[in-house]
Amino acid sequence: MSPADGPRDVSTAALPPLDPYVIVLFGAGGDLAKRKLLPGLLHLASASLMPDFRIIGTSLESLTNDEFRAIAGQACETFVRRPVSAQDREAFLKRITYVEQAAGAGGLARAVAEAEAALGGKPRRLYHLSVPPAAAAEVVRLLGDADLAERARVVMEKPFGTDLESARELNRKVHEVFDEEQVFRIDHFLGKEAAQNILALRFANGLFEPIWNRNHIDHVQIDVPETLDVGTRGAFYDQTGAYRDMVVTHLMQVLAFVAMEPPTALTPSAITEEKSKVFRSLRPIDVDHVVRGQYEGYRSHPGVDPESDTETFIALRADVDNWRWSGVPFYLRTGKNLAEGARIISIAFREPPQSMFPAGSGVGDYGPDHLTFDLDESSRLSLSFYGKRPGPGMTLEKMSMQFSLVEVHDEGDTLEAYERLIRDAMNGDHTLFTTAEGIESLWEDSAPLLEHPPPVIPYAAGSWGPGQIRDLIAPRAWRLPFERRWREGKVKVA
Ligand code: BG6
Repeated sequence: MSPADGPRDVSTAALPPLDPYVIVLFGAGGDLAKRKLLPGLLHLASASLMPDFRIIGTSLESLTNDEFRAIAGQACETFVRRPVSAQDREAFLKRITYVEQAAGAGGLARAVAEAEAALGGKPRRLYHLSVPPAAAAEVVRLLGDADLAERARVVMEKPFGTDLESARELNRKVHEVFDEEQVFRIDHFLGKEAAQNILALRFANGLFEPIWNRNHIDHVQIDVPETLDVGTRGAFYDQTGAYRDMVVTHLMQVLAFVAMEPPTALTPSAITEEKSKVFRSLRPIDVDHVVRGQYEGYRSHPGVDPESDTETFIALRADVDNWRWSGVPFYLRTGKNLAEGARIISIAFREPPQSMFPAGSGVGDYGPDHLTFDLDESSRLSLSFYGKRPGPGMTLEKMSMQFSLVEVHDEGDTLEAYERLIRDAMNGDHTLFTTAEGIESLWEDSAPLLEHPPPVIPYAAGSWGPGQIRDLIAPRAWRLPFERRWREGKVKVA
């Protein structure tokens, strides 16, 4: 059994050692590299979770090694999640070099050879492609031309293609250079502790799974509003939009964790098989159940078409047509420049068949009972239910039991999603990565929406999106904004 197929130990203390690596970051000057990849690699290095390594940044910009190190140093200072000593940071930066993409296959091959010579022996290679879908095939070809496929693993950022046709074409081009085993299609939501906790909660306990079906669950909400606007990402975002940026990727992957059948084992192939079955059961998106929105002012961002029809907000109903979920709607919502930032999954249970409580007692007034997962780093869970308000009479109110991972674990135990996934990719572990088949099947289900998108409806910045979202979910209601705040306790709110 290869390490990638065997049962896996998820505690950071027992992680297998890694071979030395040369890591090449494509799109190294971009937002993702600055916010997540470079600070994440620094954190892994300072936590002794990296093997011996060298990093090569590459992008379209013309920069010297020192100029790129200065950019990387600034990014690490701004975005690293835990304090790292100046000594560790300097040691990290010394391992970074830069080669501009214009240097072509020859320049890239030379940079990799130099980094390998510094490490000695035959280190492995990790290529992280954080480039737009249109540029991904070109980078793969460059790696092929530079003869750099050997001993390599390639991490590809979403969106993987922009529709079924382009995803197939990209897969074909990737396979001209790399074997499928070498490819890691990343979806960082699956690297979040809380997303993995869905699997733990469902399959490590006897309590929830018996009621995890259409007989007991009324509907599910996967809701990821963001307060950030598109900032400096206008050019990328205008070609992408909320559906491709968030729904067909992150929200659908989370949906699969919520909806899948128990896998036969905690192995990549068993989990992938169950997720793929969910995607195969997904009904093609019905455009009558989609609300697209665009925040006022979006069109004046640099890089955005002044007449853009790109959605910065989307809410939709998805249906999983199988025995477990038939008739249970999944409501998905996400958007930029909204009133609050949150990442929640909310499971709404059916109401009791009969109520013995008198009218006016309060039962049912605050919606159904809910199990809510918060995908934030603190990985919170809440179970809300009706209980008796203390005092005379029988007045009912909504109460909740809340739990947060940081109440029982040190924050230092957790890895940020990218840190976790980059390490998994270096280890050849595909468990938390998406597959070509899964992605293609999602693009197939997306075709009605991509071909005939409903018009975008403007919404005010800082609102909850277009008012039409209420009709989409009626007679039910959106869980957010919450009726009560999470209890703070030891919980650190980002
Ligand atoms: C990225 C999207 O994949 O996920 C961004 O491109 C989005 O637009 C981000 O803001 C959200 O991720 P997180 O982990 O901050 O919730």
